[in-house]
Amino acid sequence: MTAADGLAFARRGYEGAATAWAEGAELVYGPLADALLARAPDLAGQLVLDVGAGTGAVSRRLVAAGAHAVAVDASWPMLAHRASSRPPAVVGDISRLPLMDGVVDGAAAAFVLNHLADPVAALVEMRRAVRLGGFIVASVFAIADPPAAKAAIDDALATAGWEAPEWYRFLKSVDGQLGSAATMRHAAQAADLEHIDVVEEPVRTGLTDARYIVRYRLSQPPRARFVAELSEKARRRVVDECVARVAELDEAFDPNVVLLAGARLTSPLRNLGPHSGPSRRT
Ligand SMILES: C[S@@+](CC[C@H](N)C(=O)[O-])C[C@H]1O[C@@H](n2cnc3c(N)ncnc32)[C@H](O)[C@@H]1O
Repeated sequence: MTAADGLAFARRGYEGAATAWAEGAELVYGPLADALLARAPDLAGQLVLDVGAGTGAVSRRLVAAGAHAVAVDASWPMLAHRASSRPPAVVGDISRLPLMDGVVDGAAAAFVLNHLADPVAALVEMRRAVRLGGFIVASVFAIADPPAAKAAIDDALATAGWEAPEWYRFLKSVDGQLGSAATMRHAAQAADLEHIDVVEEPVRTGLTDARYIVRYRLSQPPRARFVAELSEKARRRVVDECVARVAELDEAFDPNVVLLAGARLTSPLRNLGPHSGPSRRT
């Protein structure tokens, strides 16, 4: 599987996903964007890259914090969602950013490094685009202790005939690489970041109502498509079953997240050569 295959899978996966993402998945990704940007330095007046921007959960918060944002995403439809009210954006690959060296004050990558076969290469590329003294923040879900609601919903979907599509199986096959504080730290070191600060912690999303937790989960592309293709009656039955299973758990949806903050302090970029990031460890 090459990086180009991974990119193609990501683009296919997010096709037609924008509205559901913005109206459902962002119930969780919004608070997670807050947690990510809480790790950034003062944002006022800074030009910040939001890479893997999706429908703009991070971009909007950057603007609200007084930053100037520029968004990059592999998926044009995700960037096109409500484009007129969003910062400038360009379709591009995080591993080959369409930006000159050192042009942004900082870069944020929310839940995109987990989609990549080579996340260290992406961190190196973010570092290239950030000016000396600038910052990088990134987030991925932790592998440990996922909220029980995730499996409960997926089990209910599987009972109704859902099978994870190929592109999603690919993304899941790589998404554990940075899923702990130790592996994220290792990747940040391999990418030559400095002042590295990594935490792995539950993030409060404020989601406690089973109906909203289900809405979030069923708005993610691999599930949203399956649900959309069901008859009205079957859809209602599946949603009700998901809600019943999640309600039984009686748990707030507060996922464990790995949050990275780092800085680019040295120049010129060392020739990092073949890195020894998590994806290359034996
Ligand atoms: C899980 S979504 C997160 C979206 C947004 N950051 C948020 O928190 O709501 C991942 C996003 O990364 C994008 N993506 C996946 N692979 C990418 C790549 N190689 N380069 C740029 N964007 C990518 C997808 O198109 C998608 O919009």
